[in-house]
Amino acid sequence: MLANLSSIKEEIINFNIDNKDSLEQFRIKFLSKKGIIPQLFESFKNVEPAQKKEYGVLINELKVAANEKLETFSNQFDTTEQSIGQSDLSLPANSMPLGSRHPISIIKNEICAIFSKLGYVISEGPEIEDDWHVFGALNFAPDHPARDMQDTFFVNKKEELLLRTHTSSVQIRIMEKTQPPIRILMPGRVFRNEAISARAHCVFHQIEGLYIDENVSFADLKQNLLFFARELFGSQTKIRLRPSYFPFTEPSAEMDVSCSICGGKGCNICKYSGWLEVLGCGMVHPNVLENCKIDSKKYTGFAFGMGIERIVMLKYQIKDLRLYFESDLRFLKQFTSAY
Ligand code: PHE
Repeated sequence: MLANLSSIKEEIINFNIDNKDSLEQFRIKFLSKKGIIPQLFESFKNVEPAQKKEYGVLINELKVAANEKLETFSNQFDTTEQSIGQSDLSLPANSMPLGSRHPISIIKNEICAIFSKLGYVISEGPEIEDDWHVFGALNFAPDHPARDMQDTFFVNKKEELLLRTHTSSVQIRIMEKTQPPIRILMPGRVFRNEAISARAHCVFHQIEGLYIDENVSFADLKQNLLFFARELFGSQTKIRLRPSYFPFTEPSAEMDVSCSICGGKGCNICKYSGWLEVLGCGMVHPNVLENCKIDSKKYTGFAFGMGIERIVMLKYQIKDLRLYFESDLRFLKQFTSAY
């Protein structure tokens, strides 16, 4: 009987396990209810008392050896199939939350899409600029208040480098290296030294348009702006142009659109005027063209520029622009769009 045990031990050691099937055969042969080892335990009661001790030790050894071998090979063949078998397939899937675009990006993209229908192409420029591109070439007088530290962030002590205060600097960069026709749209981030409040921020976004060619007139500007206003605010929208002043345009104007909330009847969004102020515009000043080596006798053109935050406020009726920069998901999740 004891000799029989040592041959079983040999069998356990030499049993060839090379896949899940042979592993299962091993388990059935040695460890299942009717398998060899439980049978040996079963027959323990028939062993002669003198041999019981030795027999007991040996069958325990066999049991440990068989279990160890089973465990080692089970780990080896623990495939994904098995782990799927152990998972609860009725559990709900992990959700994959979808982000949404920032309202400023939505409106920026929408404005770009509208002007691209009129043939405008996107141009971008640096946020850190020099005096020439932000002020000098744009016909700002040397003592213009915008050049003051109160209004502009300077990057170095000598006041040579500054954070651009408007996207008009991109006009200069493009006109310096391109001869007309030019028809560009310039979105970008701008910086002004302002106290942060519900209606003002020191970092904000503008989008600017420029069109230079032969025979471009103020009527062309007005037509482009009317098309834009109707695409963005609805086909019933009216526009009006009020005289204004910018150093780089002459004549200059401010454009209002009829209030899209009340349809021009008067409400608290338009402060009961029926009109919303939307952008600044005008015919490019001949000095600006000449500063960029464009012949102002041959070419004329117009420019316009608007604050994106303001348009977003009007479109979505947002009362405090600090919300744009607070990364509050409760605010951001409300915006979904095609753009
Ligand atoms: N750059 C002007 C501003 O920041 C806007 C503007 C652009 C006005 C182009 C006229 C033409 O207010």
